[in-house]
Amino acid sequence: MADKHKIIMDVDTGSDDAVALILAMLDDTFDLLGVTSVGGNLEVKLTTENTLRMVEFCEKQDRVGVYRGADLPLVSTLLPTTAQSQLPLPRREGVSVPEGLHHAAHIPTPKFTIKEQDDCAVVWLIHTLRAAGDGEITLVAVGPLTNIALAVRADPRIVPKVKELVIMGGAEQYAGSNSMCAEFNAWVDPEALEIVLQAGFKTTLVPLDATFSAYITPSDAERIRAVGTPQADMLADLILKYGTASMLKGIDPEGETHIPIHDALALCSVRYPQVLKRKAACCHVDISGGHAYGQTILDRRRGESAPEPNCEFAFGADRELFLSWIVDVLTKAKGE
Ligand code: RIB
Ligand code: CA
Repeated sequence: MADKHKIIMDVDTGSDDAVALILAMLDDTFDLLGVTSVGGNLEVKLTTENTLRMVEFCEKQDRVGVYRGADLPLVSTLLPTTAQSQLPLPRREGVSVPEGLHHAAHIPTPKFTIKEQDDCAVVWLIHTLRAAGDGEITLVAVGPLTNIALAVRADPRIVPKVKELVIMGGAEQYAGSNSMCAEFNAWVDPEALEIVLQAGFKTTLVPLDATFSAYITPSDAERIRAVGTPQADMLADLILKYGTASMLKGIDPEGETHIPIHDALALCSVRYPQVLKRKAACCHVDISGGHAYGQTILDRRRGESAPEPNCEFAFGADRELFLSWIVDVLTKAKGE
Protein backbone atom coordinates (compact mmCIF):
# COMPACT_ATOMS: atom_id res chain seq x y z
CA MET A 1 0.00 0.00 0.00
CA ALA A 2 1.16 3.53 -0.73
CA ASP A 3 2.31 5.46 2.32
CA LYS A 4 -0.52 6.32 4.63
CA HIS A 5 -1.58 9.92 5.17
CA LYS A 6 -0.33 10.90 8.64
CA ILE A 7 -3.09 13.11 10.02
CA ILE A 8 -4.03 15.00 13.16
CA MET A 9 -7.67 16.06 13.58
CA ASP A 10 -8.78 19.09 15.58
CA VAL A 11 -12.47 18.68 16.36
CA ASP A 12 -15.44 20.13 18.25
CA THR A 13 -17.28 16.83 18.22
CA GLY A 14 -20.81 17.12 17.36
CA SER A 15 -22.37 14.85 14.80
CA ASP A 16 -20.48 15.71 11.63
CA ASP A 17 -17.15 15.69 13.47
CA ALA A 18 -18.11 12.24 14.76
CA VAL A 19 -18.73 11.00 11.21
CA ALA A 20 -15.32 12.32 10.15
CA LEU A 21 -13.62 10.73 13.17
CA ILE A 22 -15.13 7.31 12.49
CA LEU A 23 -14.09 7.47 8.84
CA ALA A 24 -10.58 8.60 9.80
CA MET A 25 -10.26 5.56 12.07
CA LEU A 26 -11.75 3.12 9.55
CA ASP A 27 -10.05 4.30 6.34
CA ASP A 28 -6.76 2.39 6.31
CA THR A 29 -5.11 5.00 4.09
CA PHE A 30 -5.04 7.29 7.13
CA ASP A 31 -2.70 7.06 10.12
CA LEU A 32 -4.54 9.13 12.74
CA LEU A 33 -1.77 10.28 15.09
CA GLY A 34 -4.12 11.87 17.60
CA VAL A 35 -7.11 14.14 18.06
CA THR A 36 -7.28 17.55 19.72
CA SER A 37 -10.59 18.91 20.97
CA VAL A 38 -11.82 22.48 21.04
CA GLY A 39 -14.93 24.29 22.26
CA GLY A 40 -17.40 25.06 19.52
CA ASN A 41 -20.52 22.96 18.95
CA LEU A 42 -20.39 22.45 22.70
CA GLU A 43 -18.13 23.33 25.63
CA VAL A 44 -14.78 21.57 25.36
CA LYS A 45 -15.59 19.18 28.24
CA LEU A 46 -18.40 17.74 26.10
CA THR A 47 -16.61 17.85 22.77
CA THR A 48 -13.75 15.97 24.45
CA GLU A 49 -16.14 13.40 25.93
CA ASN A 50 -17.87 12.93 22.56
CA THR A 51 -14.48 12.45 20.89
CA LEU A 52 -13.44 9.86 23.48
CA ARG A 53 -16.69 8.00 22.82
CA MET A 54 -15.98 7.83 19.10
CA VAL A 55 -12.45 6.53 19.68
CA GLU A 56 -13.87 3.96 22.10
CA PHE A 57 -16.64 3.02 19.64
CA CYS A 58 -14.01 2.33 16.95
CA GLU A 59 -11.88 0.45 19.50
CA LYS A 60 -8.83 2.59 18.72
CA GLN A 61 -8.12 3.66 22.29
CA ASP A 62 -4.69 1.99 22.18
CA ARG A 63 -3.65 4.02 19.15
CA VAL A 64 -5.45 7.33 19.18
CA GLY A 65 -4.95 9.79 22.03
CA VAL A 66 -7.38 12.65 22.70
CA TYR A 67 -5.98 15.97 23.90
CA ARG A 68 -8.24 18.60 25.38
CA GLY A 69 -7.85 22.10 23.95
CA ALA A 70 -9.25 25.57 24.35
CA ASP A 71 -12.79 25.98 25.59
CA LEU A 72 -13.24 29.60 24.61
CA PRO A 73 -12.13 31.55 21.52
CA LEU A 74 -9.22 33.99 21.62
CA VAL A 75 -11.17 37.25 21.71
CA SER A 76 -14.78 37.04 20.53
CA THR A 77 -16.39 36.28 23.88
CA LEU A 78 -14.65 39.15 25.71
CA LEU A 79 -16.91 41.93 24.45
CA PRO A 80 -20.41 41.91 25.96
CA THR A 81 -21.65 43.38 22.69
CA THR A 82 -20.86 40.34 20.53
CA ALA A 83 -23.19 37.38 20.04
CA GLN A 84 -20.22 35.16 20.82
CA SER A 85 -20.23 36.42 24.41
CA GLN A 86 -22.85 33.73 25.07
CA LEU A 87 -20.31 30.99 24.26
CA PRO A 88 -19.76 28.19 25.05
CA LEU A 89 -23.12 27.12 23.68
CA PRO A 90 -25.23 26.44 26.75
CA ARG A 91 -25.90 22.82 27.48
CA ARG A 92 -29.58 22.27 26.88
CA GLU A 93 -31.10 21.60 30.30
CA GLY A 94 -32.45 18.11 30.72
CA VAL A 95 -30.68 16.77 27.64
CA SER A 96 -28.84 13.64 28.56
CA VAL A 97 -25.61 12.50 27.06
CA PRO A 98 -24.82 11.95 24.16
CA GLU A 99 -24.78 15.70 24.26
CA GLY A 100 -23.88 17.28 20.95
CA LEU A 101 -24.18 14.11 18.97
CA HIS A 102 -27.77 14.98 18.23
CA HIS A 103 -28.98 11.94 20.14
CA ALA A 104 -27.66 9.41 17.64
CA ALA A 105 -29.51 6.34 18.75
CA HIS A 106 -26.82 3.71 18.48
CA ILE A 107 -23.99 5.19 20.51
CA PRO A 108 -23.10 2.50 23.04
CA THR A 109 -23.38 3.36 26.69
CA PRO A 110 -20.10 5.05 27.46
CA LYS A 111 -17.71 2.73 29.21
CA PHE A 112 -15.24 5.58 29.45
CA THR A 113 -12.41 3.09 29.61
CA ILE A 114 -10.34 5.84 28.09
CA LYS A 115 -9.52 9.27 29.38
CA GLU A 116 -8.10 12.37 27.76
CA GLN A 117 -4.31 12.56 27.70
CA ASP A 118 -2.38 14.66 30.22
CA ASP A 119 -0.89 17.05 27.65
CA CYS A 120 -3.19 19.84 26.56
CA ALA A 121 -3.91 20.11 22.84
CA VAL A 122 -1.55 22.99 22.09
CA VAL A 123 1.43 21.42 23.89
CA TRP A 124 0.87 18.09 22.14
CA LEU A 125 0.39 19.71 18.72
CA ILE A 126 3.64 21.66 19.04
CA HIS A 127 5.65 18.69 20.37
CA THR A 128 4.27 16.28 17.74
CA LEU A 129 4.72 18.64 14.82
CA ARG A 130 8.20 19.77 15.90
CA ALA A 131 9.28 16.11 16.14
CA ALA A 132 8.01 15.38 12.63
CA GLY A 133 9.83 15.83 9.36
CA ASP A 134 9.04 18.74 7.04
CA GLY A 135 5.73 18.26 5.28
CA GLU A 136 5.05 15.01 7.13
CA ILE A 137 1.70 15.61 8.81
CA THR A 138 -1.65 16.78 7.46
CA LEU A 139 -3.71 18.82 9.91
CA VAL A 140 -7.49 18.50 9.52
CA ALA A 141 -9.21 21.27 11.49
CA VAL A 142 -12.98 20.94 11.65
CA GLY A 143 -13.85 23.17 14.60
CA PRO A 144 -13.03 26.76 15.55
CA LEU A 145 -9.34 27.43 14.88
CA THR A 146 -8.42 28.41 18.45
CA ASN A 147 -5.97 25.53 19.11
CA ILE A 148 -4.21 25.91 15.76
CA ALA A 149 -3.86 29.68 16.20
CA LEU A 150 -2.47 29.29 19.73
CA ALA A 151 0.01 26.65 18.56
CA VAL A 152 1.32 28.64 15.61
CA ARG A 153 1.56 31.86 17.61
CA ALA A 154 3.47 30.00 20.33
CA ASP A 155 5.82 28.20 17.91
CA PRO A 156 5.76 29.23 14.23
CA ARG A 157 8.36 26.55 13.55
CA ILE A 158 5.47 24.08 13.20
CA VAL A 159 4.41 25.61 9.86
CA PRO A 160 6.89 23.74 7.57
CA LYS A 161 6.06 20.49 9.37
CA VAL A 162 2.46 20.62 8.14
CA LYS A 163 2.07 19.06 4.69
CA GLU A 164 -1.38 20.66 4.33
CA LEU A 165 -3.79 22.36 6.68
CA VAL A 166 -7.33 21.40 5.68
CA ILE A 167 -9.89 23.62 7.35
CA MET A 168 -13.64 23.04 7.36
CA GLY A 169 -14.64 26.67 7.62
CA GLY A 170 -15.73 29.82 5.91
CA ALA A 171 -18.32 30.52 3.29
CA GLU A 172 -18.89 32.70 0.24
CA GLN A 173 -22.52 32.13 -0.77
CA TYR A 174 -23.87 30.75 2.52
CA ALA A 175 -24.03 31.44 6.24
CA GLY A 176 -24.11 29.23 9.29
CA SER A 177 -26.88 29.17 11.83
CA ASN A 178 -25.51 31.79 14.24
CA SER A 179 -24.69 34.67 11.93
CA MET A 180 -26.14 36.48 8.96
CA CYS A 181 -23.01 35.90 6.89
CA ALA A 182 -20.41 33.81 8.71
CA GLU A 183 -19.88 30.05 8.87
CA PHE A 184 -19.93 28.65 12.42
CA ASN A 185 -16.25 27.68 12.91
CA ALA A 186 -15.13 31.06 11.58
CA TRP A 187 -17.83 32.87 13.57
CA VAL A 188 -16.88 31.32 16.92
CA ASP A 189 -13.25 32.47 16.64
CA PRO A 190 -12.73 34.94 13.77
CA GLU A 191 -9.33 36.11 15.02
CA ALA A 192 -8.04 32.53 15.18
CA LEU A 193 -8.95 31.84 11.55
CA GLU A 194 -7.32 35.12 10.47
CA ILE A 195 -4.15 34.27 12.41
CA VAL A 196 -4.02 30.85 10.77
CA LEU A 197 -4.66 32.25 7.28
CA GLN A 198 -1.73 34.63 7.74
CA ALA A 199 0.62 32.03 9.25
CA GLY A 200 1.98 30.60 5.98
CA PHE A 201 0.49 27.11 6.07
CA LYS A 202 -0.39 25.35 2.80
CA THR A 203 -4.09 25.80 3.45
CA THR A 204 -7.17 24.31 1.86
CA LEU A 205 -10.44 25.93 2.95
CA VAL A 206 -13.50 23.67 2.73
CA PRO A 207 -16.35 26.18 3.17
CA LEU A 208 -20.12 25.77 3.24
CA ASP A 209 -20.12 26.34 -0.53
CA ALA A 210 -18.41 22.95 -0.91
CA THR A 211 -20.11 21.09 1.93
CA PHE A 212 -23.62 22.09 0.90
CA SER A 213 -22.91 20.88 -2.65
CA ALA A 214 -21.73 17.49 -1.32
CA TYR A 215 -24.96 16.94 0.59
CA ILE A 216 -26.19 13.53 1.70
CA THR A 217 -29.89 12.68 1.57
CA PRO A 218 -31.84 10.45 3.96
CA SER A 219 -31.98 7.75 1.26
CA ASP A 220 -28.19 8.03 0.89
CA ALA A 221 -27.99 7.51 4.66
CA GLU A 222 -30.01 4.32 4.34
CA ARG A 223 -27.64 3.19 1.54
CA ILE A 224 -24.82 3.72 4.03
CA ARG A 225 -26.69 1.80 6.72
CA ALA A 226 -27.21 -1.07 4.28
CA VAL A 227 -23.48 -1.91 4.53
CA GLY A 228 -24.75 -3.65 7.64
CA THR A 229 -22.15 -2.98 10.30
CA PRO A 230 -22.40 -1.16 13.64
CA GLN A 231 -20.21 1.60 12.21
CA ALA A 232 -22.49 1.97 9.17
CA ASP A 233 -25.49 2.08 11.47
CA MET A 234 -23.84 4.74 13.59
CA LEU A 235 -22.91 6.87 10.59
CA ALA A 236 -26.44 6.66 9.18
CA ASP A 237 -27.87 7.70 12.56
CA LEU A 238 -25.42 10.58 12.96
CA ILE A 239 -26.17 11.82 9.44
CA LEU A 240 -29.94 11.62 9.89
CA LYS A 241 -29.78 13.30 13.29
CA TYR A 242 -27.57 16.07 11.89
CA GLY A 243 -30.23 16.50 9.23
CA THR A 244 -32.65 17.62 11.91
CA ALA A 245 -30.42 20.61 12.73
CA SER A 246 -32.18 23.93 12.54
CA MET A 247 -30.18 25.24 9.59
CA LEU A 248 -31.56 22.53 7.34
CA LYS A 249 -35.19 22.54 8.30
CA GLY A 250 -37.58 23.50 5.53
CA ILE A 251 -34.82 24.12 3.00
CA ASP A 252 -36.49 21.93 0.40
CA PRO A 253 -39.96 21.03 1.69
CA GLU A 254 -40.80 19.10 -1.49
CA GLY A 255 -37.60 17.13 -1.94
CA GLU A 256 -35.37 15.19 0.38
CA THR A 257 -33.43 17.12 2.99
CA HIS A 258 -29.91 17.91 1.82
CA ILE A 259 -27.64 17.11 4.75
CA PRO A 260 -24.13 18.60 4.58
CA ILE A 261 -21.70 16.43 6.53
CA HIS A 262 -19.17 19.26 6.56
CA ASP A 263 -16.29 17.72 8.48
CA ALA A 264 -16.28 14.40 6.65
CA LEU A 265 -15.89 16.20 3.31
CA ALA A 266 -12.82 18.03 4.63
CA LEU A 267 -11.31 14.66 5.60
CA CYS A 268 -12.27 13.08 2.27
CA SER A 269 -10.27 15.78 0.43
CA VAL A 270 -7.06 14.52 2.06
CA ARG A 271 -7.46 11.16 0.32
CA TYR A 272 -9.25 12.48 -2.76
CA PRO A 273 -8.14 16.08 -3.41
CA GLN A 274 -10.20 15.95 -6.61
CA VAL A 275 -13.39 15.77 -4.52
CA LEU A 276 -13.15 19.55 -4.19
CA LYS A 277 -13.69 22.07 -6.97
CA ARG A 278 -11.14 24.63 -5.86
CA LYS A 279 -9.37 27.84 -6.81
CA ALA A 280 -6.37 29.69 -5.42
CA ALA A 281 -7.65 32.61 -3.37
CA CYS A 282 -6.66 35.34 -0.96
CA CYS A 283 -9.06 34.95 1.93
CA HIS A 284 -9.35 37.06 5.08
CA VAL A 285 -11.78 37.23 7.97
CA ASP A 286 -13.82 40.19 9.15
CA ILE A 287 -12.61 40.76 12.73
CA SER A 288 -14.18 44.16 13.11
CA GLY A 289 -16.94 42.95 15.47
CA GLY A 290 -19.90 44.19 13.46
CA HIS A 291 -22.68 42.37 11.66
CA ALA A 292 -20.14 40.58 9.44
CA TYR A 293 -17.88 39.50 12.33
CA GLY A 294 -16.37 36.15 11.26
CA GLN A 295 -17.30 36.43 7.59
CA THR A 296 -14.65 35.07 5.24
CA ILE A 297 -13.94 37.53 2.43
CA LEU A 298 -12.23 36.67 -0.85
CA ASP A 299 -10.02 39.42 -2.31
CA ARG A 300 -11.39 39.97 -5.80
CA ARG A 301 -8.68 42.30 -7.14
CA ARG A 302 -7.28 41.07 -10.46
CA GLY A 303 -4.33 41.72 -12.72
CA GLU A 304 -1.33 43.52 -11.30
CA SER A 305 -3.20 44.48 -8.15
CA ALA A 306 -4.19 40.88 -7.45
CA PRO A 307 -2.89 39.76 -4.03
CA GLU A 308 -0.84 36.66 -3.34
CA PRO A 309 -3.15 33.70 -2.64
CA ASN A 310 -3.07 32.37 0.95
CA CYS A 311 -5.24 29.29 0.39
CA GLU A 312 -7.12 27.09 -2.00
CA PHE A 313 -10.83 27.80 -1.62
CA ALA A 314 -13.31 25.03 -2.48
CA PHE A 315 -16.36 26.51 -4.14
CA GLY A 316 -17.96 23.12 -4.92
CA ALA A 317 -17.51 19.38 -4.47
CA ASP A 318 -18.14 16.04 -6.15
CA ARG A 319 -21.07 14.62 -4.18
CA GLU A 320 -20.92 11.19 -5.82
CA LEU A 321 -17.21 10.70 -5.10
CA PHE A 322 -17.76 11.78 -1.48
CA LEU A 323 -20.65 9.36 -1.02
CA SER A 324 -18.88 6.44 -2.69
CA TRP A 325 -15.82 7.04 -0.47
CA ILE A 326 -17.98 6.68 2.64
CA VAL A 327 -19.60 3.44 1.40
CA ASP A 328 -16.25 2.03 0.22
CA VAL A 329 -14.52 2.68 3.56
CA LEU A 330 -17.36 1.03 5.47
CA THR A 331 -17.50 -1.92 3.07
CA LYS A 332 -13.75 -2.49 3.23
CA ALA A 333 -13.79 -2.27 7.02
CA LYS A 334 -16.56 -4.89 7.06
CA GLY A 335 -14.40 -7.32 5.18
CA GLU A 336 -11.52 -7.00 7.62
O1 RIB B 1 -20.29 25.22 9.95
C1 RIB B 1 -20.14 23.85 10.13
C2 RIB B 1 -19.05 23.54 11.12
O2 RIB B 1 -19.41 24.05 12.41
C3 RIB B 1 -18.86 22.03 11.32
O3 RIB B 1 -17.51 21.77 11.59
C4 RIB B 1 -19.71 21.74 12.53
O4 RIB B 1 -19.26 20.59 13.24
C5 RIB B 1 -19.47 22.97 13.35
O5 RIB B 1 -18.23 22.82 14.02
CA1 CA C 1 -16.98 20.58 13.63
